[in-house]
Amino acid sequence: MSNSELPGAPELAYRAGALSLEQVPVARIAEQVGTPFYAYSSAYLERRYRAFVAAFQNKAMLCFAVKANSNVAVLRHLGRLGAGADLVSEGELRRALAAGIPASRLIFSGIGKTETELRAALAADLHQINVESLPELTLLSDVAHRMGKTARVAIRVNPDVDANTHAKISTGKSENKFGIDLPHAADAFRRAKQLPGIDPVGVAVHIGSQITSLAPFEAAFTKVVDLLKTVRGEGVALKRLDLGGGLGIRYRDENPPSIEDYAAMVTRVTRGLDVELAFEQGRWIAGNAGILAARVLYVKEGATRRFVILDAAMNDLVRPALYDAWHEIVPVTAPGANATLAPVDVVGPVCETGDMFASERPLPPLAQGELVAFLSAGAYGAIMSSGYNSRLMVPEVLVHGAEFSVVRPRPTYDEMLAQERVPPWLL
Ligand code: LLP
Repeated sequence: MSNSELPGAPELAYRAGALSLEQVPVARIAEQVGTPFYAYSSAYLERRYRAFVAAFQNKAMLCFAVKANSNVAVLRHLGRLGAGADLVSEGELRRALAAGIPASRLIFSGIGKTETELRAALAADLHQINVESLPELTLLSDVAHRMGKTARVAIRVNPDVDANTHAKISTGKSENKFGIDLPHAADAFRRAKQLPGIDPVGVAVHIGSQITSLAPFEAAFTKVVDLLKTVRGEGVALKRLDLGGGLGIRYRDENPPSIEDYAAMVTRVTRGLDVELAFEQGRWIAGNAGILAARVLYVKEGATRRFVILDAAMNDLVRPALYDAWHEIVPVTAPGANATLAPVDVVGPVCETGDMFASERPLPPLAQGELVAFLSAGAYGAIMSSGYNSRLMVPEVLVHGAEFSVVRPRPTYDEMLAQERVPPWLL
């Protein structure tokens, strides 16, 4: 694989034969941090953020979907560039605030916000709360009224559009749990207008993730614009459209739309509306900003397969096990020009057959002790990791030019044990 083909290029590239993020060889991070670890390029994050807002002539607000990568350093970096954040829990709210992102750029999404979370959102005076059901609207009104606050509310609608993506990350079909279905949405706005403590300001939509064509977006946005016009016609002065995230990236050979084409489509569909636009991209910003680096523990010749056993496992990167996701796997030291590819199963040490990153993947020869990198791991990677098999939580590193910093250290075993308590009757 040549440099230009690497997802994450040019920040991620082989320099003098060494896979590097910006100016830092991945092997150098491994020496200091040990493996496995995640590493992200701050320059890549910045370039993507700027490209997104530039495509909208700096007029749209990008609220980075914190669920994609919640590291406070990453959030702080994006926040300093001007990004807002899209949150789905009080934990994410606290992260965004700790990262210094102002409340005026925070949107709270999610179908199951608790009363405590609604109170926290109101206390922080967020830019917007996206409401997904009538019972939530009623509770929010109640809580806001009691607190003497007014919630700026967008109603998230379910446009019943097929995003043509993995079933587990599809959210815009009528059978999905998300949003208020379109036929009932205008009613919800009528209701919102009457309720104390509620200021209906906009419509929100998000139809799924890793969407690689414009058509589903356009279908959904067109329906949302129609709704906005209808509701305005009834005298509710909506001034915002939150068009969600979901824009896909290249993991393997996908050919997602360019940000310019996406922006041109949105501009066309929303022409003449006089609305503030917000987006909730996560993966598009962070996905190709990062890698997961691991070391080859053993190469084992099975009866019918060759197994490359890594020190990273499904608990560190769950996407292959959960969604059959493909992540490019490359050696950290560039293979020789005439290295031949042979199929191997790349697996982790966890005691489950599902702990497999790739099956019969053609790879150059990998030796025991060698470093490899999973590409496109900057979104839904570290944040979905766990401590399964009592493996230590995987650390995260942020690269900046020729420097790098550990932005989430690997815990010690003592720290792992300190999180638990033995009840008095077992002492
Ligand atoms: N807004 C809302 C309301 C969402 O539910 C999501 C993602 C986003 C924005 C950001 O979507 P993005 O721009 O990143 O596609 N764990 C899965 C992805 C789950 C996405 C859930 N919602 C994966 O690893 O593929």
